[in-house]
Amino acid sequence: MRVLNTFAAVRGETENTSVALVPTMGYLHDGHVSLVGVAREAADTVVMSLFVNPLQFNEPADLERYPRDLVRDSEIADVAGVDVLFAPSMSEMYPTPPRTLVRVAGVADGMEGARRPGHFEGVATVVAKLFAGIRPDVAVFGRKDAQQLAVVRRMSTDLSFPVEIVGASTVRSLDGLAVSSRNVFLSEPDRVAALGLSSGLFAAAEAAAEGERTAARLESVVASRVLAAGGEVEYVTLADAHEAEPIGTLDREAFLAVAARVGDVRLIDNVVLWPDGSSDTGVRLDEPSILRRS
Ligand code: PAF
Repeated sequence: MRVLNTFAAVRGETENTSVALVPTMGYLHDGHVSLVGVAREAADTVVMSLFVNPLQFNEPADLERYPRDLVRDSEIADVAGVDVLFAPSMSEMYPTPPRTLVRVAGVADGMEGARRPGHFEGVATVVAKLFAGIRPDVAVFGRKDAQQLAVVRRMSTDLSFPVEIVGASTVRSLDGLAVSSRNVFLSEPDRVAALGLSSGLFAAAEAAAEGERTAARLESVVASRVLAAGGEVEYVTLADAHEAEPIGTLDREAFLAVAARVGDVRLIDNVVLWPDGSSDTGVRLDEPSILRRS
């Protein structure tokens, strides 16, 4: 695996091959490893970007405490099968304070966008810069961040980037908890309480499989499980998968998203639902992760 720090070096290294990009902010976990697996299938060369993007943090304290460990990340990326790790400096990514920001109206405004002002502008802007600088053929994003996936898809279409955007299933621990960099902040009891999110979403997916189509009823299945487990619900929303806007009935591809506070930690999770009652509730880690094997 090569570790490169400039866009030009990455383009030089990947010339004449098809490129699948896995954008990350580092502190890699099993979710990222699974994105690399999807990327490996999609192109000859897998490029992972690793950049903690200040533009998408609306809380300076959140940016400050975001975990960083380049040595650990390089080892994991290498074992996962990354060919090129792109770890740009701040000045490579933002040579001057950016005056051009990408706003994806509507798609970015509800749910996470409403609670984290400017967050999706930061995401859409940095992803646009990665697409322009690396010129990948494919880019892989996790469905765990379903609204982010919708924002990136729409940004890419609107700005005519010739990139195929692939959404990869959420990776879960055996107990159902969605893998996330934030899980390291959960105490033991909070980790148990956090299972309210996934168990609520699984119960709602089952209700959809049995014929439930009303958003309010699907949402209340999730909210009641989160509350019963001791979490504090911020929102539960059934949203159109592409517009990321609330819908009243499951009559198109959608995601049922939840955001909740468990102790001091804010968690998000979702399941993808289709109108025929089928769902993508994520994949369970059924073998020891490469993060724990060594
Ligand atoms: O999902 C993330 O880790 C980030 O939002 C992304 C897509 C790498 C942009 O900084």
